[in-house]
Amino acid sequence: MKLDPIQAASAAQFDKQSQHYGKGHILEQTADIEGALQHIPLAAGWRVLDVATGGGHTGLLLAARGCDVTLGDISTKMLERAALLAAERGLRVATREFPAEAMPFGAGEFDLVSCRVAPHHFSDPEKFIREVARVLRPGGYFLLIDGSIEAGQPEAEAWLHQVEKWRDPSHHRFWNDAMWRGWCDAAGLAVLCSELQPMKQPDLEWYFGAAATSLENRAKVWEAIRTVTPDVKKFMRLDEEDGKTVWWRQRLVLVARKGIGRDLI
Ligand SMILES: C[S@@+](CC[C@H](N)C(=O)[O-])C[C@H]1O[C@@H](n2cnc3c(N)ncnc32)[C@H](O)[C@@H]1O
Repeated sequence: MKLDPIQAASAAQFDKQSQHYGKGHILEQTADIEGALQHIPLAAGWRVLDVATGGGHTGLLLAARGCDVTLGDISTKMLERAALLAAERGLRVATREFPAEAMPFGAGEFDLVSCRVAPHHFSDPEKFIREVARVLRPGGYFLLIDGSIEAGQPEAEAWLHQVEKWRDPSHHRFWNDAMWRGWCDAAGLAVLCSELQPMKQPDLEWYFGAAATSLENRAKVWEAIRTVTPDVKKFMRLDEEDGKTVWWRQRLVLVARKGIGRDLI
């Protein structure tokens, strides 16, 4: 599997950090997925592909609902971790190693493709969306959940992008709702709903630990916090709470459906 430099950086980062993404990770909290599933008529037996499955928190929730789930990721170690969790929960899933931008599946193989808190690592999100559209059956659903930022906040976006890059060098970019909608539209995925949900980042130190941020980069993040402008501080709701540095992230939850010709079923 030939990876581009951005993909290779992710694979290396998550191979190194896989032990942090299983039990006890903040991603174990799945209210965002539960909420989004209200827009998807999920049924037992659905063929589901969970792209960039990480610790498997999304894919395993869907497997527990009786779906026939394939967990995909670019990192061998993450897939091993997710498979372990599946075995512990008595869930049968398939695993497959591949980059989101090139899926090793035929056209129309899945009823649902999910991808949560990962596309900000992808080197080519537009290509990822085209792959999602290709592997979905006509009428199939796409669930995307990822960090994002509302349009029209260039200063906050630049600050956040830099801080995230220092915290985890495999971070590539957050994309806004309009970008995702444009790519979905171009690929024949009709967006049924999308929403930016606020999410508190409860403790910066915890995030440093999860990403194994170098001491040098931690210092850069602290300096960015010290010198943040009042506007960005206010927008990010950057604060100290019980000795912890907190701010609020925005998570985009988007559900789309692959059209049949020009219409949906
Ligand atoms: C934060 S974890 C995903 C969390 C998970 N989806 C969940 O719901 O808990 C991010 C994952 O994206 C994977 N990843 C990053 N870039 C990727 C790419 N281009 N293709 C496939 N997986 C990728 C990483 O290996 C990592 O396992």
